[in-house]
Formats: sequence, C-alpha cells, structure tokens
Amino acid sequence: MPAISASVPGKIILFGEHAVVYGRPAIAVPVEQVRAKAIITPGIHQPSGSVLIQAPNIKIEALLSELPAENPLAATVRSVFDTLKISHPPALVIRISSTIPIAAGLGSGAAVTVAIIRALSDYLGRRLSNEQVSNLSYEIEKLHHGTPSGIDNTVTTFQKPVYFQRISDHQVIIEIISFPKPFTILIADTGVPSPTSITVGDVRRAWIERSDYYEGIFDNIAEVVQNARKAIESGSIEKLGELMNANHQLLRELDLSSQQIENLVQASQHAGALGAKLSGGGRGGNVIVLASELQATELSEILKSAGATRVIPTQVR
Ligand code: MEV
Repeated sequence: MPAISASVPGKIILFGEHAVVYGRPAIAVPVEQVRAKAIITPGIHQPSGSVLIQAPNIKIEALLSELPAENPLAATVRSVFDTLKISHPPALVIRISSTIPIAAGLGSGAAVTVAIIRALSDYLGRRLSNEQVSNLSYEIEKLHHGTPSGIDNTVTTFQKPVYFQRISDHQVIIEIISFPKPFTILIADTGVPSPTSITVGDVRRAWIERSDYYEGIFDNIAEVVQNARKAIESGSIEKLGELMNANHQLLRELDLSSQQIENLVQASQHAGALGAKLSGGGRGGNVIVLASELQATELSEILKSAGATRVIPTQVR
C-alpha cells in the first residue's frame, strides 16, 4: 500500500470572530502559505492493529492505544475508525507536520484534524464528503476549546472563503463568497501565543456577567460583517478597510486587544493602510492589515519594525 497524504491550509478570520460563537455571522478565508500535512504509511514493522502517531512539532510519538481519549490527535483517528466502523485497523504510521503557528489564530488545530481525517479515510479507501469531514472535525474542535463556532473546521475543510453562521447546534449557514476584486492582506504575527480556549472562556465569563452589554456588541459586529460582505462582493476596498477598523474597535471593547496588537494596528494606520484589526482569539496571535498592492512591501517592513515576528502577505480571492 503506497503512502497517502493530505495537505490542508490554515485560515484567517476577516470579520466576526467571537461574536460568531454567539450565533452571529463571520467571514473567513484559507491561508495557503501555511499548511498542515498528514501522511499515512503502512506500519511494516508493527503488530497488526497498531497505529503509531508521530507529531514531531509537538513532540508526540506514541501508539494510539497509549493516548488518552481527550488527546485531539488520538480522538481524530478514533473518530475516523468509528465513522468507518473499523474495529481492527491495519498497522499504520500517521505522521503529522505543520507550518501553521500554534495559538496564533491561524486555525492550526482544525487544519491538523482535517488533514488526518482526509488522509486516513483515503488510505482506508473510504473517502468522506466535505460535510462529514467538517462535522467530524467540529467535534474535535470541542476538545480544543469547549464552545467552537465551527468556522475553523468549515474553512479548512472547504478551503474557500466562507460566510458562516451557526443558527443552532444542528443548523449552520455556509456560503462560499466570491471576491470580484482580489485584495491583499498582510498577516502580521505579534509573536505572542494566545490559546483560543482562554480568550473564548474569558468572553463567556464576561458575557454571563453582563449579557446585555455583550449581546449589544455582538449585534454591532454582526452588522459590520453584513456590510463587509457587501463591500467584498461589490469590490469596495476602501469601505472594507473602514469596516476592519470598526470591527477592531468592537473587539477592543470586548477586551481582546493587547499592547502588541495595538502597536501593529497603529503602525499600519499611521503608514496609511486601508484598515487593520486583530484576527482570531485576540490578546496575541495575528493582526490583519488591508493594503493596496503598492503598499504591501513597505507596510511589511513597517509591521516588522513595530514588533511583528513575521508577516505573511496573502491575496484574498
Ligand atoms: C477562532 O478562530 C475564532 C473564534 O471566534 C472562536 C470560534 O469561532 O470558535 C474566537
């Protein structure tokens, strides 16, 4: 049996993070420059039924049977076997690697999960539909951070820009968005890891205490998202920049910014960027900056001088 692999892009949220956990819409796009990969090979020297998981990036090399139920890699592999009703898998090696920074708002957890599901189901000759892949990875996302919206697993599964809204536990709106005019965003890393589970948990606690206030902000974010969709579909790049700034302001009101984020946002605004905002969980991770093509190179340097540990220019289309 030859090796089978799957490679899955990261993602970035353009508009609507956090509010999307509370049933509001959000827009996210794949980021092709960073990827997670899973390779499945036969476990030639292993006893039958043994599955070896190797994830050198996070220093894991263990048999599936040794890993606890809540380990997301093990849970992913087990969920594929359960879905395909495979009780005695062939001896396998699953090797996982990723260039997606962890805890940076780039969807590394979801991308790894989707890569494993795709490679493993293909290896077993039972390709799963996008919907099945996304649903399985949504369940694994719950292990990463208790109350995921599902946007990360959706974008990494479909690998297209999406407008996403979770209406209820079982009902989601997923619409692929088209960009008549491609635009450039710079994804600037603060270099500060910020696990989504922590910021999502903090927002939940604050929402429980002051739900009217938080619901009001989520509604304002939802309005920004709707307007952003219109701006994207009509190619109004200046409007999109203004909406990014407005979304950032609302995220600040949710207490999700930090000094490092503000340094990058302000540096890009002073340099004449069209818009800038934090993206993903916040408090660290990445800032996204909307730039004209002419500005992109200069802005990248400015962002690095303002503290960005790396800048990924990406064309959204
Ligand atoms: C994480 O990429 C985005 C959040 O909105 C959480 C979620 O949607 O599950 C912060």
